[in-house]
Amino acid sequence: MKVKVAVIGVGRMGSIHARNLKLGLIKGATLACICDIKDEALSSFIKKHGRTKTYEDYKLMLEKENIDAVIVSTQHYFHGDIVKYCIEKGKHVLCEKPMTVTAEEARSVLKEANKRPELVLAVMWNQRTNPIHQKAYKLVQSGKIGKLIRMNYIVTDWYRSQAYYNQGGWRACLWGEGGGTLINQCVHQLDLLQWIAGFPIGVEAKMYTKGRNITVENDVIALFEYPEDVFCSFSASTHELRGTNRLEISGEKGRIVIENRKMKVYTFKKCESEVNAETKSGYGFVSRKVKRYGYNLQFALRLIRDFGEQASLIRNFVNSINGKGELLSPLKDGLQAVEMVNAIYVSAWEKRKIQIPVDGIYYEKILKERIAQEKNYLGIE
Ligand SMILES: NC(=O)c1ccc[n+]([C@@H]2O[C@H](COP(=O)([O-])OP(=O)(O)OC[C@H]3O[C@@H](n4cnc5c(N)ncnc54)[C@H](O)[C@@H]3O)[C@@H](O)[C@H]2O)c1
Repeated sequence: MKVKVAVIGVGRMGSIHARNLKLGLIKGATLACICDIKDEALSSFIKKHGRTKTYEDYKLMLEKENIDAVIVSTQHYFHGDIVKYCIEKGKHVLCEKPMTVTAEEARSVLKEANKRPELVLAVMWNQRTNPIHQKAYKLVQSGKIGKLIRMNYIVTDWYRSQAYYNQGGWRACLWGEGGGTLINQCVHQLDLLQWIAGFPIGVEAKMYTKGRNITVENDVIALFEYPEDVFCSFSASTHELRGTNRLEISGEKGRIVIENRKMKVYTFKKCESEVNAETKSGYGFVSRKVKRYGYNLQFALRLIRDFGEQASLIRNFVNSINGKGELLSPLKDGLQAVEMVNAIYVSAWEKRKIQIPVDGIYYEKILKERIAQEKNYLGIE
């Protein structure tokens, strides 16, 4: 039996998920129906992809239709309530990123999720499907590069022009999506960072808005702190032309460098503390092996054909419902990146070092105050 999936929110991203299901690109699943509060979104989907059962109210849809699973692809602020409702109604759920805007809300969603362990609940961390990221994850977990010493992550290759922001709506504002570059684009990399290298305990950050008429950041610099004086410098922007996407993870026994969709893994014959103890000179040397990894052809073709990473994550979700294989991105993993985003905002707004996690109630309070100021400035209700 195929898993019957409904997509809630068929704007830009949700319509691609629904299209992939309708075209049969997700083996073991079928598109049961779609739901959107905007009639234009529903009619546009039908015009492009043919007859499909539609709803404007997801609660009514869940009452009328015999569906197994739901993909939630609305604006961030609506994810929490919709996901909770679907869980309550006993549906498997895949929620788009970020799971919620605040960690406090994410925790309340997970409380609901914990009551239904029989359901497959996932979050769209599609970059985890990238074989290079999976390899890096496994290498770090296996101890191949030893105890981690430092990470550096530069993400300046997701350029967004003023025209992108001029499309208006909910994007690039606190009231519409709870932030800018950080919560919309970089949240993917924050998840990768914490997935591969672990969850930080503190952060000190600065944020700027450069060359764009928006009320939120498009440039972030953060210094994450981990136990035992391990640090990660994280810098991200969406205003630099032909930017960089480079993750370096240094360990005592090796290094991982991911850049331009390729990964180099260096492994050392001896770990740094041994070299330091033995060397008589003021400098150090170690012989090393280098292994190179790139995309395999199958993955590269999928990327081109069907918005690959997202479709791959949906396949993983469906397979997991069908009892085939482990869930790559469980819903509980939606929390950590949101915690990191919330902490960066508090640190940058209040110009101080912050412990992670931040106090959730406090974050919701200051976010609310900032939204009120923003709305006042923009002249909206
Ligand atoms: N995983 C990725 O790489 C990726 C890429 C783009 C967007 N996204 C995420 O997908 C989500 C949607 O982004 P988008 O760009 O498609 O936005 P969008 O504005 O194009 O689409 C959102 C749709 O949700 C609908 N909607 C809102 N409330 C609803 C409700 N209660 N019931 C039914 N429909 C409702 C809206 O009418 C709209 O059509 C966001 O969370 C975004 O962060 C993820």
